[in-house]
Amino acid sequence: MHSAAAMNPPRILDGKALATTVLATCRAEAAALHAQGITPGLAVVLVGEDPASQVYVASKARTCAELGFYSRKIELPATTTQQELLDVVCTLNADPAIHGILVQSPPPKHIDEAAIIRAIDPRKDVDGFHPENVAKLVLEDPSGFVPCTPAGCIKLLDSAGLATAGAEAVIIGRSMIVGKPLALLLVSKHSNATVTIAHSRSRDLPAICRRADILIAAVGRPEIVKASWIKPGAVVIDVGINRLADATKKSGYRLTGDVAYDEVAPLCAAITPVPGGVGPMTIAMLMQNTLQAARQSEFKKIQKPNFFLDHA
Ligand code: GUN
Repeated sequence: MHSAAAMNPPRILDGKALATTVLATCRAEAAALHAQGITPGLAVVLVGEDPASQVYVASKARTCAELGFYSRKIELPATTTQQELLDVVCTLNADPAIHGILVQSPPPKHIDEAAIIRAIDPRKDVDGFHPENVAKLVLEDPSGFVPCTPAGCIKLLDSAGLATAGAEAVIIGRSMIVGKPLALLLVSKHSNATVTIAHSRSRDLPAICRRADILIAAVGRPEIVKASWIKPGAVVIDVGINRLADATKKSGYRLTGDVAYDEVAPLCAAITPVPGGVGPMTIAMLMQNTLQAARQSEFKKIQKPNFFLDHA
């Protein structure tokens, strides 16, 4: 790159502020449901003692309380068997106070996660991971649940008025939780982007990323996305939440994304910070999905349009 064609400072996509707005709407919608005798209920199941997962699960329960949802936190030891976990899921499936069920990922290695996800009643699958909801995402059927982190990324782009139609979007990471569902959303008639999914086996990852008008990093590797990977003026969404040891912090760690923020940000039109970008949006979308589950279970039909229609 030749020298200092000074660029405007990037827009910081403030996920914390947007999540606060979304959650205020959720709180009002929960109050409207209360008036009809319905309390949205979310069960969060955590197997094992992964510290990051413990933080996420606690944060989900706290947000439920703030919104007037019922929440149940089920913490199971790392030694829990597949059958014991299946039994917990079956009990929650049958419980009318529970509209949404989330089993925190990743579970311990001896657990067959796909089988657990298949056991969740798809009408309570607020993560959107059950094959029935994955199919509905492919089909753009609004009765399905859209996975929370990808939905949060789209909401951040839409709310900032950042155009996706016709844009080259590159997603780094092909996970069930983020990469693949986000690719489906971006290519859907809602967003109309041209999408590339890159991953650890992609040839010349930096060159692929340099094509991106919208670059989404969802690999879980601290600061792998460098300034030289960025097309100037790109929009960068950092989904990574990595813990790096830091003795100067009370917690003993600091959070960093998948993007080398300090060197990348000056090149971008817009970028999400870590923390305070995608993370808070994930929880906000989970609350929206739980409301959707409560409405659909109580009224047995789509009363209020959800993701695709909401964002049309
Ligand atoms: N682990 C990291 N993100 C998620 C998520 O969105 N849902 C679940 N169940 N586990 C996760």
